[in-house]
Amino acid sequence: MANFYITTPIYYVNGDPHLGTAYAEINADAFARWHRLLGDQVRFVTGTDEHGLKIAQAAAEHGVTPQEWVDRTSERFRGAWGKLDISFDDFIRTTEPRHVSTVQEFLSEIYRRGYIYKDLYVGLYCISCEAYYQESELVDGKDCPVHGRPVTEMSEENYFFALSKFNDRLIEFYENNPGAITPETRLHEVLGFLRQGLTDISITRSSIDWGVSVPWDEQHVFYVWYDALINYLTAVGYGDGSGAFEQWWPSVHHLLGKDILRFHAVWWPAMCMAAGIDPPAHFLVTGWMLVNGEKMSKSLGNQIDPMAVASDLSSDALRYYLLRANGFGLDGDVSLESLYRVYNADLANDLGNLVSRVVALSIQKGGGRAPAVPEIGSDPLGAKPLLEGSIAAWNAFRPMDAIDHAMAIVRAGNSLLERAEPWRRPEGDAESLDALGRVREGLRLAAVLLSPAIPKASLEIFVRLGFGGAGELRWTAEAGGATLEKRPPLFPRAVAG
Ligand code: MSP
Repeated sequence: MANFYITTPIYYVNGDPHLGTAYAEINADAFARWHRLLGDQVRFVTGTDEHGLKIAQAAAEHGVTPQEWVDRTSERFRGAWGKLDISFDDFIRTTEPRHVSTVQEFLSEIYRRGYIYKDLYVGLYCISCEAYYQESELVDGKDCPVHGRPVTEMSEENYFFALSKFNDRLIEFYENNPGAITPETRLHEVLGFLRQGLTDISITRSSIDWGVSVPWDEQHVFYVWYDALINYLTAVGYGDGSGAFEQWWPSVHHLLGKDILRFHAVWWPAMCMAAGIDPPAHFLVTGWMLVNGEKMSKSLGNQIDPMAVASDLSSDALRYYLLRANGFGLDGDVSLESLYRVYNADLANDLGNLVSRVVALSIQKGGGRAPAVPEIGSDPLGAKPLLEGSIAAWNAFRPMDAIDHAMAIVRAGNSLLERAEPWRRPEGDAESLDALGRVREGLRLAAVLLSPAIPKASLEIFVRLGFGGAGELRWTAEAGGATLEKRPPLFPRAVAG
């Protein structure tokens, strides 16, 4: 049994979950579900990023302590992910004692190894990003490139991480492991950045106190990104002696958005090297969901509310749309209009209708019993190559492709029924029952392959078609015979509201 450890970014708790964060969560969840289906031992970790200036300011604005504020806001994320059927195994909050001690232990190790030193820092800081910028990176020399708002000059004495010492090792690491970043375009971006040369970075703050304190100098707290990245080690018990760390590290898959690539693919592996552990094995970098060509974000006020979609349609509808919307790693425009279009075309028409049709025809022409699944034989559905294509795509982290292959089985099922025309034939006709049995099995396979995307509907499909459960990931002849019943549509047609 293989191990499969996957993480999401941990989200800033000063906003509500939105489509962008739901997107990261749903992708990671689909991969976790896929690997559970393969029988792997899966550890899927998500959580919330609760320290830093932005959070302290939001708490002050609401007249509560930072801890009260994060207790409240973190819960909103956990609750939202529950409603989207996110099957995480652990939820890390960076204010938890287990995390605080991991951060202190990990960074003390780097300090002991001589890669952290004290110096004066003067820089241009964006509070929304919690990051310093070079003047050349600013828009019109003054505004944050992400938020479009002016940055502030900050100056403080703090501790630095000797990032520059890891420049060559990082280049060597990526040259030797070109598969470490998916998609490959992001690997080239990282290598290009590394080849420009790295400078050391400031990793502590003395101007704020909402953070993890530096164990060897209590005047300082760690910079929020330095604290946040370490959640990936907290989740596997770094330093706790339980053996979990050795089991799960370093073969981890870190899923993240392209905007936080450098933190993950440059700083984080360097920190690991500095602490004497292996760098993480794999980064899965998503693109952005765009609305009319612009990144959705709270500050731009152009969000689609994923929770409203989940309650108006279903969590499956949202999940399917986001996984299917564009190829993994690419940017893509999303809109409610296209969501409803895809929902009606793929889920209501192709998939939902086919399930209803097989049930109705089995009732009319097969005595109300599930038709037997014949041996695959000449495979008129083309199920075998489509199944293999979908499996390969899921294994290669390409949900859109995996879904397309599964939906092609569904469409082939519709065509086979059109050709066999069981509705024109007498009850018990052998050819009709053969076609119905094949389509029934095709739907089971499609539902298994789609289950990482639409977990609820997939279970419902197994039940409606008289299968005991998901069954095997291959064509499986069976006797049929279970009683089938007519039920309301699996995905009722819908209009945007
Ligand atoms: N707290 C940091 C991550 C620390 S991980 C050690 C953070 N949080 S965030 O809440 O701002 O963003 C989390 C993720 O949401 C990022 O990966 C980001 O790419 C993703 N998204 C935010 N808006 C997005 C879109 N519009 N589209 C797709 N994903 C985007 O950064």
